[in-house]
Amino acid sequence: MIIAIDGPAGSGKSSVAKAVALRMGFHYLDTGAMYRAVAVGALARGIDLSDGSALRAFSKDRRIRFAYEEGEVLPSRVFFGDEEMTDLIRTPEADRAVSPVSACPELRGDMLQKQRMLGAQGNYVVEGRDIGSVVFPNAALKIFLTADVEERARRRSKQNEARGLPCDYEAILQSLKHRDHYDMNREVAPLMVAEGAVEVDTTHMTEEEVIDTIVNLASEVRNRVCGPDGGAGDDNTKGLPDIAEDTCGELA
Ligand code: DC
Repeated sequence: MIIAIDGPAGSGKSSVAKAVALRMGFHYLDTGAMYRAVAVGALARGIDLSDGSALRAFSKDRRIRFAYEEGEVLPSRVFFGDEEMTDLIRTPEADRAVSPVSACPELRGDMLQKQRMLGAQGNYVVEGRDIGSVVFPNAALKIFLTADVEERARRRSKQNEARGLPCDYEAILQSLKHRDHYDMNREVAPLMVAEGAVEVDTTHMTEEEVIDTIVNLASEVRNRVCGPDGGAGDDNTKGLPDIAEDTCGELA
């Protein structure tokens, strides 16, 4: 069973998706981290971030791998090829670099395959922009998380402050608006409310309320449609086009 959680930058997807995965006992896949890893790797090598063919050639044979810290239930470390990217992908430079990279159709095709391969079996909470619309259009539950852009900027500013990252509200607000524009207006897999998605506007909700809302919906779907184990052994890619043999994503 797949729970797809899409929404704009700063809508709280990551913390909510992780909490939902923990409460449901599901795996967790952060697809934004995959685009971020490619963007950071390409930036470090001076690759043109809007050159889809170059990005594809660069990323094609590098494995994106998520790894667990000892004792962790959800993976928190990200590797791209041999490089650990965990902290590098959360900087303002990464925020800027990832928009053009994620808009490249050539790269999105490869990412789609990797994401489907990762989430093919088992119970997954998958977060991103196009999970319910493109990657897993048959997801058992699709959530579209939103919040006013000012509220998202306030939350991101607080989050960055706690992590020791730049936390200027105005700069963050402008960056979020820029990414919203990019994500919603790109030609391939733009950010949109997927067919059948439940919209959850979190502007005036606490994080706990958001998590409870999604866990309640997910539990109801699991009991009604997928059975008590969420259809854990089912093929989540059933009915979707074949996955090419040469993709190489994996969870450690
Ligand atoms: O969720 P995030 O902020 O980590 O995502 C980083 C970027 O990657 C964001 O600008 C949009 C893009 N993205 C995407 O295009 N499709 C996804 N499934 C996930 C993220």
